[in-house]
Amino acid sequence: MRIGKFPLTRKRRLRQSAYSRSLVAENTLTTSDLILPVFVLDGKNQTKIATCMPGIVSRSIDLLVPYLSSSHSLGIQAVALFPVVAQEKKSTMAEEAYNDDGLIQRAIREIKSTIPNLGVITDIALDPYTSSGQDGIIDKVGYIINDATLDILVKQALSHAKAGADIVAPSDMMDGRIASIRKALEDNQYVNTMILSYAAKYASSFYGPFRDAVGSAKNLGKADKSTYQIDPANSDEALHEVAMDIEEGADMFMIKPGMPYLDIIRRVKDELKIPTFAYQVSGEYAMIKAAAQQGWLDEDQVIIESLMAFKRAGCDAILTYFAVDAAKLINKSRE
Ligand code: PBG
Repeated sequence: MRIGKFPLTRKRRLRQSAYSRSLVAENTLTTSDLILPVFVLDGKNQTKIATCMPGIVSRSIDLLVPYLSSSHSLGIQAVALFPVVAQEKKSTMAEEAYNDDGLIQRAIREIKSTIPNLGVITDIALDPYTSSGQDGIIDKVGYIINDATLDILVKQALSHAKAGADIVAPSDMMDGRIASIRKALEDNQYVNTMILSYAAKYASSFYGPFRDAVGSAKNLGKADKSTYQIDPANSDEALHEVAMDIEEGADMFMIKPGMPYLDIIRRVKDELKIPTFAYQVSGEYAMIKAAAQQGWLDEDQVIIESLMAFKRAGCDAILTYFAVDAAKLINKSRE
C-alpha cells in the first residue's frame, strides 16, 4: 500500500459531500443481501410475541404467507423457516421432524404455491423436535449420538425437499451431515436442492432469545451444546469445518453468530472464497433492540451500520431479524 502525505493527501476531501462519499463507497447493502428468519406456529389465525425479541411475531401459516408476500415485495429474496413445535409432538427420536404433513412441510408447500419466486430455506436440525432440546439423539449419559442423528437428519432433509424447499440448511454441527444429506438428495433426484451448511456454528450464549421464542429453552434446561458446536476460542477450527463441508457438497456456508464473529467471516471469505453467509442471531437482535427501546441507540442507523459491517467483513448474504426493517430503510434511502 502507498501512503499519501499531508497536505497533498487530505483524506477528508472525499468525505466532504454525500455524492463523493457514495462514489468511493467500497461496499453496498441491498435488499437482496437479506434473508428473513420467521417462526411458524401451528393452527389458524395464531400469533405469538417473543418476550426476549421485541417486535418478532410468530405466525400460523395462514398469516405467515401474506406477511412473506409483502416482505418479498420489499425486495427480500429468501426466507428461513423455524418451527414452534408443540410439547406433545416432541420425542426422544424426533419423529415429527420428518412428518411429511408436519408444520414446516405444510408451510413450505403453502409458501411455494403462493410466492414461487421467494427462496425457501429450511433448518435441518432436531432441536425443535427432541424432548431434550438437544440437536440430536442422546444416549444414557446424555451424549449426543452422531451417526444415529444423521439418519434422522437425512429423513428430515428429504421430507423438506419433497415438500419443495429450495435450500436445506443443516444447522446442528453433527459430523458428516452434509455428505449424508447430499448423497440422499442425489439418490432421490433432488439434484438441484441447495445445501446451506451452518459449517461454522459456535456454542454461543447469543442464541438464548431464540430458544425462548421456539420454546426449546425449557427442554434444554441447564444443558449446553458444547460437545458439538464450536468453541468460541477457535478460528482455525471453523475454517476446517467449512473446508470439509465444501468437500461434502454444500453450496453455501453460514457463520453464526454474526457480529462477534466478523473475523471468522473475513477468514472464510479470504481463504476459501465460497458463498459466505452470516446469521445476526437473536441475542444480537435483542441487544440492539433493548438499547434502542431505552433510547440509548438510534435503531435505524444501528441496523444499517451493523448489516454493512457484515458486507465489509465479506458476507454475500445476511440472515437477520431486522430484514424487513432494513429493506424498508434501504428502499427509503433510494427514493
Ligand atoms: C439450532 C438453532 C439455533 C438457532 C437457530 N437454530 C441455536 C441453538 O439453539 O443452538 C439460533 C438462532 C438465533 O439465536 O437467532 N438448530
